[in-house]
Amino acid sequence: MKQFPTDFLWGGAVAANQVEGAWQEGGKGLSTSDVQPKGIFGDVSDRKGHTFSLKDTAIDFYHRYPEDIALFSEMGFGILRVSIAWTRIFPKGDELTPCEAGLAYYDKLFDELAKHGIKAMVTLSHYEMPWHLVTEYGGWSNREVITFFERYAKVVFKRYAEKVKWWLTFNEINMSLHGPLTGVGLQDGCSESDVYKAIHHQLVASALVVRACHLLIPDAKIGNMLLGGLVYPLTCQPNDVFETLQENRKWLFFGDVQCRGTYPGYMLRYFRDKGIDVVITEEDKHILKQTVDFISFSYYMSGCVTADKALSKKIRGNILNMVPNPHLQASEWGWQIDPVGLRTLLNELWDRYQKPLFIVENGLGAKDQPDEQGQIQDDYRISYMNDHLVQVREAMEDGVDVLGYTSWGPIDLISASKGEISKRYGFIYVDRQDDGSGTLARTRKKSFYWYQEVIRTHGASL
Ligand code: BG6
Repeated sequence: MKQFPTDFLWGGAVAANQVEGAWQEGGKGLSTSDVQPKGIFGDVSDRKGHTFSLKDTAIDFYHRYPEDIALFSEMGFGILRVSIAWTRIFPKGDELTPCEAGLAYYDKLFDELAKHGIKAMVTLSHYEMPWHLVTEYGGWSNREVITFFERYAKVVFKRYAEKVKWWLTFNEINMSLHGPLTGVGLQDGCSESDVYKAIHHQLVASALVVRACHLLIPDAKIGNMLLGGLVYPLTCQPNDVFETLQENRKWLFFGDVQCRGTYPGYMLRYFRDKGIDVVITEEDKHILKQTVDFISFSYYMSGCVTADKALSKKIRGNILNMVPNPHLQASEWGWQIDPVGLRTLLNELWDRYQKPLFIVENGLGAKDQPDEQGQIQDDYRISYMNDHLVQVREAMEDGVDVLGYTSWGPIDLISASKGEISKRYGFIYVDRQDDGSGTLARTRKKSFYWYQEVIRTHGASL
């Protein structure tokens, strides 16, 4: 196979709350992730009754990052996507002064990456926010939270201006349609209006920090991050086709605002029809014009849509409304595997926005069993990733501008949706089990050597 361009950025992606652990070290405050031990769809615990959470230690990346980065370097990574835990910088979220211990931790992390020649890509908000902002302010439904987020972003932009040139605003911002991810309705339910109000505040906050990043680090690039929730019509029945258009718009709406700088007409109509009351001020409209430099997205699966209510048996992947595609196989978690969908998605996003694209998450969650020699022969993962990367190459041949690929979970980590570790994504096995047992030792899986070869050959080995 033809090589990828030599400047294509190969690497992996993780998130603070899924790898770091050390949930109470370095002055860190309590985050929404800390109070949801069972993941983003799980119940809230006040953590007062010693509720067990795997995330408290996670894979102990907070202390073991030098060892892990050395392994990433051995694979040949050019970039590592991490997130900053907002609560390490502003433990409660509304302070005026940041926590120096938190800032110093990420300094060390970025320095370690630089030592190995690995670029850092940083997500400002990956599925967590200070819990104090939820209990005292009502999460993102409160406009004041925009100011707190902008303050946090400016602090980290200034501090890491020389160390980080790749930034992302909100992880999978379209997942905010699941209200609790905005800190709304986490404790007591919420209406669709409440959720869209919170989403509007996040969109304004995202645009404000795009502006701040451009001013404070002129040579940096800042992107949005979408969950690529591609859906197909279940049949060619025109109502299925139209329903699919509407379903895709539910997530593309976020990209439309972040890339085009304005609310699309179809969403304003949706608000009118549903009586959703979102206040978009003249100042907001002006701020939203600060569009992103590139689009990043995750892609794991595709699904189908039908207008036939009787047929619309839904599956829950990492997005909520998908009808299974009869032509596709699924992972052990029911996520339907569709490599061609990645090529389709890349082409669709490129045609719609004409902005460079970065695949910042893709991978297979599976139960790995060490063999008698203690090795993980994860051919299923290799096959999943190989097939997807072949389609990335096809999309680039189609003319799509793809900047890079960071696989999700290059090292086993805690699942966002379930709070478990038995759903493993890594090229590196971590000895830890769902009950918390294990030594945390790291072992290279078969896929480790496969990815190393892909990177070494610039994709020619695919
Ligand atoms: C994405 C998230 O939705 O999918 C990650 O950005 C998450 O945080 C990943 O871990 C895989 O989902 P899960 O639920 O298998 O961890």
